[in-house]
Amino acid sequence: DDNDSDERPLAGLSALITAGPTQEPLDPVRYITNHSTGKMGYALAQAAKALGAEVTLVSGPVALPEPAGVNVVHVLSAEDMFEAVQRHFASADIVVMAAAVGDFRPEHADAEKIKKQGRADLTVRLVSNPDILAWMGGHRRTDGSQALCGFAMETQDLIHNAARKLLAKRCDMLVANDLREPGAGFATDTNVVTILTPAGGCGDDDDNGLPNQQVRTERLPQMPKTQLAA
Ligand code: CTP
Ligand code: CA
Repeated sequence: DDNDSDERPLAGLSALITAGPTQEPLDPVRYITNHSTGKMGYALAQAAKALGAEVTLVSGPVALPEPAGVNVVHVLSAEDMFEAVQRHFASADIVVMAAAVGDFRPEHADAEKIKKQGRADLTVRLVSNPDILAWMGGHRRTDGSQALCGFAMETQDLIHNAARKLLAKRCDMLVANDLREPGAGFATDTNVVTILTPAGGCGDDDDNGLPNQQVRTERLPQMPKTQLAA
C-alpha cells in the first residue's frame, strides 16, 4: 500500500553491498590489508534493510556486529570477495561497492611461516587482484533495472580521479572522499563526500586516458556515516 511504499521504498528489491578491507595472505601468519573498518558499508546495509530491501552484505574482516536481518557473507581475500559477489550479482537490483579491495596480493602465499633466520631482506612479488567493480560494470543489466554505486578514496585530484573511476567502471553513482579532509576517512563515524553521477550516460576513457566531460558532482556537508548511508 501507499504507506508501505513511503516508508519502505526499497521493498521487493534486493541489495548487494560490500564492506571492509580484504586480507591478502603472505603465509599462515601474515597478510597485507588496509585501514578500512567497514563502518560505511555496514551503515549502508542497515539503511537498505530499514528502507525495505532484502540485503546481502559481503564483508571483509571487520570488528562490527552483523546488522540484524541482513544476509552476511564473510570473506578474507579480494578473490574470495569476487567469488561471493559473482554469486549474488545477477539477482541484485542495487549494488554498492563500499569495500576497500586490495589491488594486489602476494604472488605466492607460503604454506609455512616465513622465517627471518638467514635473511637480511625479503622481497615479495605482488600480482593484480580482479577489479570487482569494473567486472560489475561490464556485466551489469542493460535495461536500467540494476543500480551500481562505487566508492573512491583519494589523497589528491579527488574529482578528476573519481570521475575516471565512475566512467571507466560504468557506475550510476560514485561516492568520493578525500582521506585528508577533516571528518572523513578511515574509522571515523562521519564522512565528507562528493557524489558523482554520469551526466550524459556512461562512456569509456578517451584514448588520452582522461574521462569524457560528462560528470555531475554534488558535494555534501559532513555527516554521520549512518545518515549518509540513508
Ligand atoms: N574496487 C573493486 N575491486 C578492486 C579495487 C577496487 O571493486 N580490485 C572498487 C572499490 O570497492 C571502489 C572502487 O572500485 O568502489 C574504487 O576503488 P579505488 O581503490 O578508489 O580505485 P581503484 O580503481 O582501485 O584505483 P586506485 O586504488 O589506483 O586509486
Ligand atoms: Ca584501489
